[in-house]
Amino acid sequence: MAKGKTTVFFCQSCGYESAKWMGQCPGCRQWNTFVEETVEKTSIRKITKEKAAAGPVCLSSIDMAEEARISTHMGELDRVLGGGIVPGSLVLVGGDPGIGKSTLLLQVCRELSEDGRNVLYISGEESLKQIKLRAARIGSFSDSLRLLCETNLELIRELIRKEKPQTVIIDSIQTMYHEEISSAPGSVSQVREATSVLMQLAKGLGITIFIVGHVTKEGTVAGPRVLEHMVDTVLYFEGDRHASYRILRGVKNRFGSTNEIGVFEMRENGLMEVENPSEYMLEGRPKEASGSVTACSMEGTRPILLEIQALVCHSTLAMPRRTAAGMDYNRVNLLLAVLEKRLNLHLSNSDVYVNIAGGLRISEPAVDLGVVLAVISSYRDKPIDEKVLAFGEVGLSGEVRSVSQAGQRVQEAKKLGFTTIILPQVCREQIGAVEGVQLLGVRTVADAMGLVSGRQKEN
Ligand code: TYD
Ligand code: MG
Repeated sequence: MAKGKTTVFFCQSCGYESAKWMGQCPGCRQWNTFVEETVEKTSIRKITKEKAAAGPVCLSSIDMAEEARISTHMGELDRVLGGGIVPGSLVLVGGDPGIGKSTLLLQVCRELSEDGRNVLYISGEESLKQIKLRAARIGSFSDSLRLLCETNLELIRELIRKEKPQTVIIDSIQTMYHEEISSAPGSVSQVREATSVLMQLAKGLGITIFIVGHVTKEGTVAGPRVLEHMVDTVLYFEGDRHASYRILRGVKNRFGSTNEIGVFEMRENGLMEVENPSEYMLEGRPKEASGSVTACSMEGTRPILLEIQALVCHSTLAMPRRTAAGMDYNRVNLLLAVLEKRLNLHLSNSDVYVNIAGGLRISEPAVDLGVVLAVISSYRDKPIDEKVLAFGEVGLSGEVRSVSQAGQRVQEAKKLGFTTIILPQVCREQIGAVEGVQLLGVRTVADAMGLVSGRQKEN
């Protein structure tokens, strides 16, 4: 082996480095993820030297004007980015293959080049012809967008230095390779080196670089943690590949909040923005069906209404089956335990399936009350009025706890025609009366259950 080179083992999932092979990664606890890679010690030294060359500056001498955002003319994307593109930033767009990353970024290229900005799209995955085919579906392009098929990072670096584009797209980071590193493209050391080269280019020349990263089957970008640390912004593009809508979620953002989402729909001619996601999520909601309740979750600054479906049926298994799609499995189990204990619902010999229709993944506890009501409705096989919406967090003793931004949730529900809202009593008192909507405050899940069964009798 050449002098200065050593081999180390990297976890291909989280980038954990080890001198010897291990079966299980101590970092991310996954099995069989270690792969031997050759690393050159000198290249790391070179990078630190280059970085140290720039002298320190004082805060007052930093020009704020540079922070002005560049709009992509796609409102959904701008919001997730925190108000537009920050010049000189490095943005990672991750997602499953075929979800639409290349399409989204080509559309960004189109908008930016229409504004007369110099944009360079570097693809390591597709030929120029394939890109042209995709572009033809999206629309017409200006000549300030230029394309390149290349995977050699040294050549890319030289080209960017020479051409000085304002925005660069790298599709994808897993195909890029550095000649000095002997491991295969897509390995942790290649991905790490490629990202550090791109970061130096972005910061040094003040250009924005979008990096596409594929997600592994475990749901993380290959070599992910390494990548996430290095870039400024991490966006994940997710959604059901068989359904047409796509969700762009901010996971890390040095220039904005991280809980914003952008909703798009994949059409024949590219991605369209969905401006009112609630309407979209509630499309096709069944009427008069038991086990269906509408709830409200805040995604960043926006309230989104969604349908929660539950199916409770008699189980023939010794261990009844429980599934949760779009929600945390343990959270659903916890809520079922609360129902069992506090409301004497005999769920221990029933299979329970909970699903958030539309494929959104919700982590906010504000949907708890919706889940609880959906399970009760399915258990008794009594539909809940479709004009009823419920939100609130459920605690272990069966209490309904307050949630943030209740006012905004109520307004969104009102906008979409809901006439009765079941919410935590504390929120009810904060909001006061809202015209055209009946607000029903509850303190416990038993109160909520009483309300819906009361309403069923009325009907
Ligand atoms: P793509 O952007 O190639 O995905 P990724 O880069 O994340 O792998 O998206 C490909 C999918 O999108 C493919 O299944 C075709 C579909 N598509 C449309 O439905 N409409 C369109 O206008 C385009 C360009 C693609
Ligand atoms: Mg692609």
